[in-house]
Amino acid sequence: MKKKADGLKGKLTAYGDAGFSYFLRKSFTKSLGYHDDELARPVVGIANTGSGLVSCHGTVPQLIEAVKRGVTAAGGLPLDFPTISLGEPFLTPSSMLFRNLMAIDTEEMIRAHPMDAVVLIGGCDKTVPAQLMAAASVDIPAIALVTGPMMTGSYKGERLGACTDCRRMWGEHRGGRIDEDEIDEISGRLMPTSGTCMVMGTASTMACVTETLGMMLPGGAAIPAVHSDRLRNASATGAAAVAMIERGGPRPSEIITPAAITNALRVLLAIGGSTNGLIHLAAIAGRVGIEIDYEAFDRLGRETPVLVDLKPSGQHYMEDLNKAGGLAPILRELASLLDLDCRTVTGRTLGEELDAAAEPWPQEVVRPRDNPLCAEGGIAVLGGNLAPGGAIIKHSAVTPELLTHEGRAVVFDSIHDVDRRIDDPALDIKADDVLVLRNAGPKGAPGMPEAGYIPIPKKLAAQGVKDMVRISDARMSGTAFGTIVLHCAPEAAIGGPLALVQDGDRIRLDTPARRLDLLVSDEELEKRRAAWTPPAPHEGAERGWLAMHLAHVQQAEKGCDFDILAGKPSGKRAPI
Ligand code: FES
Repeated sequence: MKKKADGLKGKLTAYGDAGFSYFLRKSFTKSLGYHDDELARPVVGIANTGSGLVSCHGTVPQLIEAVKRGVTAAGGLPLDFPTISLGEPFLTPSSMLFRNLMAIDTEEMIRAHPMDAVVLIGGCDKTVPAQLMAAASVDIPAIALVTGPMMTGSYKGERLGACTDCRRMWGEHRGGRIDEDEIDEISGRLMPTSGTCMVMGTASTMACVTETLGMMLPGGAAIPAVHSDRLRNASATGAAAVAMIERGGPRPSEIITPAAITNALRVLLAIGGSTNGLIHLAAIAGRVGIEIDYEAFDRLGRETPVLVDLKPSGQHYMEDLNKAGGLAPILRELASLLDLDCRTVTGRTLGEELDAAAEPWPQEVVRPRDNPLCAEGGIAVLGGNLAPGGAIIKHSAVTPELLTHEGRAVVFDSIHDVDRRIDDPALDIKADDVLVLRNAGPKGAPGMPEAGYIPIPKKLAAQGVKDMVRISDARMSGTAFGTIVLHCAPEAAIGGPLALVQDGDRIRLDTPARRLDLLVSDEELEKRRAAWTPPAPHEGAERGWLAMHLAHVQQAEKGCDFDILAGKPSGKRAPI
């Protein structure tokens, strides 16, 4: 080793006798069958997020073995440790309520254990952001490894992928065009392998964003979960972690800079990435004291075309992106808009890694900049009197005619209210109305679930209505399609203007002008504000994690991170 690593001698248990502490630790480690020379090696921790309740992480045991192989061959001692893990469809009310819990768990386990570097195995939506937030706060050499996307499925000759096609098929079922037996059969066809959702949902978005940030080995984002390249990528990640210890870095704070965040935001737009990517990047940046400048982000969107033809904005899937060369062709197209001097986990710059990537070949997944999928980036930031703290719309995945729309508000007071009334035949609703959902934000829901994709009322779905303008303070799955305004801030539960909307009010969405307005006079709104009372407290809100969440969670523009976990403000902003 060129640099001295602390290895197992680091971070000793506090007995007041350092010699005894190390003696005891060594003795216990020997009980696992290690030799003295192994115990003298630098330690690479491996965050083990395998769980029977996280189907997207089904391959984690094989990945851990492959990482260990890479670490051992490079002269390190690999030791895996468990952290909590979050499977998007397995948690109530939403995995987002627990992202910060996973971030705290991961951060404190890294901080408290003897490790010189850490490999973070994540995949499902909230896991990678939680791990990057943790790594940024602990600031030891850290490298991300994702489980990788699933392969696509097929049903009666039609190619299917999670979860854009899950939602589309369910919409057809709700509209009465697919019956019970058929939808049951389809549930066995949508996800034929382990891995993360194979469209450009949040998991794929965060994988691409993490590679762009420089926190993952180049080429690691798009390799399918069950491809042998994924195992080779895992062992290379283990070896890279040892190399980081030898070089003494770079540490996350040296990688996650305003320029790197700007690159990541640029790629988020160009891939037509999940709106959740913006929230997670805000939280990751916040851990190193960098604030997101949303006006600048919107400007970035206006000059960044969507290049990646993947569902839900386009037609392909992640395995196609992998065959097209993964992230490299995207970065190559964007090269003149990126800061290629940003450092990566390899110790080399993004530009050096791009130069070393395989030569491009003809492909149809990543478009050239002069023939983009959409001229503007996938996400627009809206202002207006319904979103004074901002709102966003993924305008690459909407019905274009609805981007500018005025309609009558039909208001739902909570997610339960949607559940209860959306399919009520007596619901007074027309196709050109605007669906409003409130009290579904970080505190209101709580945990800001992916409820912004309000289902089209059954009676309208049966008439063939596939999209309507929908507005909420919730999030939405990155796999969803529709004219859906999200993250309205401040949220209704803390008195944001969404709380003041009444059935029958007129609402105007003007995406080109970046405005979302409630067409009600200021005097009337003042009257309603004076009469507003906050929603009743959540059950169980007085204790435990929920009490901590409600006391400390910040709004969407701060990435919904806890105020007590955010980094010291540096005065730096991104994008630059
Ligand atoms: Fe895990 Fe989609 S549910 S990535």
